[in-house]
Amino acid sequence: MRIENLKDINKALDKYLPRKGKLAQAMRYSVFAGGKLFRPILCLATAEALAKPAKKILPIACAIEMIHTFTLIHDDLPAMDDSDYRRGKLTCHKKFDRATAVLAGDALNTLAFEILARETNNAEVVEEVAAALMAVVEGQFLDIKSEGKRISLAKLKIIHNMKTAALLKVCVRATAIRLKASPKKLKALTKYAEHLGLAFQIADDILDATSTQKQLGKPVKTDNKKGFPYLLGLEKSMKLADLERKKALAALKDFGPQGNSLRQITRFVVEREK
Ligand code: IPE
Ligand code: IPE
Ligand code: MG
Ligand code: MG
Ligand code: MG
Repeated sequence: MRIENLKDINKALDKYLPRKGKLAQAMRYSVFAGGKLFRPILCLATAEALAKPAKKILPIACAIEMIHTFTLIHDDLPAMDDSDYRRGKLTCHKKFDRATAVLAGDALNTLAFEILARETNNAEVVEEVAAALMAVVEGQFLDIKSEGKRISLAKLKIIHNMKTAALLKVCVRATAIRLKASPKKLKALTKYAEHLGLAFQIADDILDATSTQKQLGKPVKTDNKKGFPYLLGLEKSMKLADLERKKALAALKDFGPQGNSLRQITRFVVEREK
């Protein structure tokens, strides 16, 4: 992925986000706090794999990053994970206040769907994203309700697929649908994203267990009762993440060199340090 793409994503986010008032300030604070922009990058890499210009996909990429940021703002609230740091900075409710954080999340979510509806003019895309977000919300609910309990590996996989993989999957699917990919390519890309998504959350759990707050920009050792390393141990968790990475890669077998950015992403997901 070229650095130009990152600039384009940030420029488009800047264009879409409101400027006036404290609520706008809170929305911008969290969106521009220094996230990896992994989801927008995934959208753009999917466009590349389909040999289509990235520009057409920027509204989808920005909308999904706003939705993602909204889920993080709410995930950090005292009623949920009660985290004070995110993306290396104070969380939204710490920097502002709880009510502002709840509403900044609501506003980002609402704005995202406005952008999706207006800029894609494609009901299927909007529905896909709404269904993915519903899965995230239900996954977050299951995650919170299993706090402090020992859950089975099967249940943990379900939670991870819902709370994390669903949004990564929709990056790929919404992009492919918008760009009129063939059913065969859509199917392969969906499979790719399902494995990528699981690998991504296993890696998040591993980093939670092994990294530092300084490195990650968010609190660590938060999943000590749940998460893959707790259930499987570190070594097995790493093996499982790598297996998912390989499956993601295999799903791209029919994509030529234009699928290389998606391939690079699979490596990043398991080798990343934040
Ligand atoms: C964090 O996502 C939440 C999970 C789904 C694991 P990211 O690791 O993509 O966080 P940012 O966007 O870079 O802050
Ligand atoms: C949250 O998972 C995923 C979503 C916000 C949907 P985590 O609670 O593990 O995410 P982090 O570790 O706080 O980023
Ligand atoms: Mg959480
Ligand atoms: Mg959390
Ligand atoms: Mg985590």
